[in-house]
Amino acid sequence: MVPLKLHALFCLLCCLPSVHPFHWQDASSFDFRPSVMFHKLQSVMSAAGSGHSKIPKGNGSYPVGCTDLMFGYGNESVFVRLYYPAQHQGRLDTVWIPNKEYFWGLSIFLGTPSIVGNILHLLYGSLTTPASWNSPLRTGEKYPLIVFSHGLGAFRTIYSAIGNSLASNGFIVATVEHRDRSASATYYFEDQAAAKVENRSWLYLRKLKQEESESVRKEQVQQRARECSRALSAILDIEHGNPKENVLGSAFDVKQLKDAIDETKIALIGHSFGGATVLQALSEDQRFRCGVALDPWMYPVSEELHRRIPQPLFFINSAKFQTPKDIAKMKDFYQPGKERKMITIKGSVHQNFDDFTFITGKIIGNKLTLKGEIDSRVAIDLTNKASMAFLQKHLGLHKGFDQWDSLVEGDDENLIPGSPFDAVTQAPALQHSPGPQTQS
Ligand SMILES: *[C@@H]1O[C@H](CO)[C@@H](O)[C@H](O)[C@H]1NC(C)=O
Ligand SMILES: *[C@@H]1O[C@H](CO)[C@@H](O)[C@H](O)[C@H]1NC(C)=O
Ligand SMILES: *[C@@H]1O[C@H](CO)[C@@H](O)[C@H](O)[C@H]1NC(C)=O
Repeated sequence: MVPLKLHALFCLLCCLPSVHPFHWQDASSFDFRPSVMFHKLQSVMSAAGSGHSKIPKGNGSYPVGCTDLMFGYGNESVFVRLYYPAQHQGRLDTVWIPNKEYFWGLSIFLGTPSIVGNILHLLYGSLTTPASWNSPLRTGEKYPLIVFSHGLGAFRTIYSAIGNSLASNGFIVATVEHRDRSASATYYFEDQAAAKVENRSWLYLRKLKQEESESVRKEQVQQRARECSRALSAILDIEHGNPKENVLGSAFDVKQLKDAIDETKIALIGHSFGGATVLQALSEDQRFRCGVALDPWMYPVSEELHRRIPQPLFFINSAKFQTPKDIAKMKDFYQPGKERKMITIKGSVHQNFDDFTFITGKIIGNKLTLKGEIDSRVAIDLTNKASMAFLQKHLGLHKGFDQWDSLVEGDDENLIPGSPFDAVTQAPALQHSPGPQTQS
């Protein structure tokens, strides 16, 4: 039921075998000497190729820049990580997970002692993703904008393989950090004084009891949808030339975003709980012209939502996560005259859409189902290409992404058209999106 639990688990387990002499079950009685521990961890890190990112670089023609933006104070402030086409290729120095509190959040998610968070921070705290931090935005073009919504237990920074790829192909991508307490951790500043001295107020994952789960998840998905819309409004405000202060006070000048976004070309993508958020937000905010739901978690999706989404919708699923019931709930969105597509990536798992799939070795990755049978790079490449082909069509872009149109139909050796259950349970016609409806 909890889609992202394995994220944190993998982090834990991949350092367990390496720091072999340390027995976790004895943690409380263990004579913990930081210098010894640190030494061990350092050797683990160098063995793992410390600091060298295995997260793929975007291979479109634009260099990729990255920055964090926060607008406003308190828990209603907007917080996004922005991937964008950069003026020139600088150093690929974007820190992947920039605060130790995110690692503590992952340990809360896991239900492990906070020392696990500290270890994870030592192991992964300096890992970078291949994008140039605060690099100037490439000017002279209005870019389409993608708002991205993360999964349960995740946060804004761990979808960089997708962000890098889309930005290198000429999209601006704003990955929202949600404040509904579904993120492992997030922070805001109480007020200007707190921002000035970087006194962060941290908000950690809320664990739910079984009986409150349904109602809280439904509230969360609604808050998430509002947060996507608020992020969009804030960015469009700047695009229109209304000055807005980035309270993070970074070196990236937000005024560069003025006239940089094509307001008619805005889409929403999300993974897991973020996929549910895509459905909720599309129904409420018509500025999102279309949506891509990556292995959406259907549990929090309200029954009545399926009639309320006029925009084109694309489901890209992993091979194992969805049940026939979930697929049936997705199929409810196939309403007459509406553009709907669905593909499944063969041999993939739920975690194939985020960066965690790239940072373990194959054996541990497979064991923890962070990796499937399919090569993680092949899976993310299919996701990105199929998404871009879909976006080109429905945002009216004039790029070469239509070369990947066949992927949207599931026409590839690594793809299944529709869901794995269609072949056995549905009429063949449903395997492909119904032809006559594929206009707009
Ligand atoms: C990225 O590069 C790889 C290796 O050259 C290639 O197979 C893949 O098609 C490229 N992906 C995109 C999105 O252009
Ligand atoms: C945000 O802050 C307000 C006021 O302090 C509080 O009532 C609300 O529950 C908070 N929301 C979240 C998601 O923490
Ligand atoms: C940081 O902010 C909290 C309230 O948000 C306050 O209680 C605390 O005193 C502040 N700490 C510093 C060092 O300013």
